[in-house]
Amino acid sequence: MKGVILAGGRGSRLHLLTRVTNKHLLPVYDRPMICYPVQCMALAGITEVLLVAGGNNAGDFIRLLGNGREYGLRELSYIYQPEAGGIAQALSLAEHFAAGSPLMLILGDNILERSLAGARQRYEAQGGGARILLSQVQNPSAYGVAELDEHGRVMRIHEKPAQPPGNWAVTGVYFYDHQVFDMIRSLVPSARNELEITDVNNAYLARGQLMAEKINGYWADAGENIDFYLRACNLVAQRGANLDSSQ
Ligand code: DAU
Repeated sequence: MKGVILAGGRGSRLHLLTRVTNKHLLPVYDRPMICYPVQCMALAGITEVLLVAGGNNAGDFIRLLGNGREYGLRELSYIYQPEAGGIAQALSLAEHFAAGSPLMLILGDNILERSLAGARQRYEAQGGGARILLSQVQNPSAYGVAELDEHGRVMRIHEKPAQPPGNWAVTGVYFYDHQVFDMIRSLVPSARNELEITDVNNAYLARGQLMAEKINGYWADAGENIDFYLRACNLVAQRGANLDSSQ
């Protein structure tokens, strides 16, 4: 399995903090934000990783991360996303890199308390398709939200719904097989003019190939707004990140 980390986008929700630098280079406790998903990959045993960079100071990722060896990767590659065309558009840039392998995708502003080694194993055991990770939140309208039936199965995913069908947010960790790139080619831009990862997940769901699991430990979207950025910093300082566990 190979890994893709997204660090493009505009970062506009963190206002002045991102006027001159890239959101993913901002400090979260004792290191830049992007170091958490990089470490997350290494701890899940995924050592060939592509970083999709964009926005301000994209070149600084190379200065910080180099070839990835210091962070436990075998190979870290980079690709540039010139415009913030959406998460699915950013992922489409990884097709050549993936070369048919399954992928673990992590959004560069997501931080998890627990390691993803277990989730990776469960995806591999599922034998293809897609897998998403869910976390309960108090502000579901800010995220993709999974509509679950009485058995906890996903019926549909709604992107930033005004009236959420529950409080299980879709976190920024996704597992996909090689079909993902054809699915992205068939997407049309959303109202915010982005290719949405939620449309990809609903396409897998329509084929009966989407599995979901609920995560243990905290999940922090450090880029959501300034209060969530502060929350992420505090959670990492108090509880740590990417800790070993059965997750
Ligand atoms: O954090 C989880 C949420 O991420 C999910 O619940 C939503 O379903 C999903 O759409 C996404 O929502 P956001 O609105 O929070 O995504 P955002 O635009 O903040 O981008 C998330 C990350 O992806 C961020 O680290 C930058 C990267 N990105 C984003 C865009 C739009 C790119 O690399 N390129 C892009 O074009």
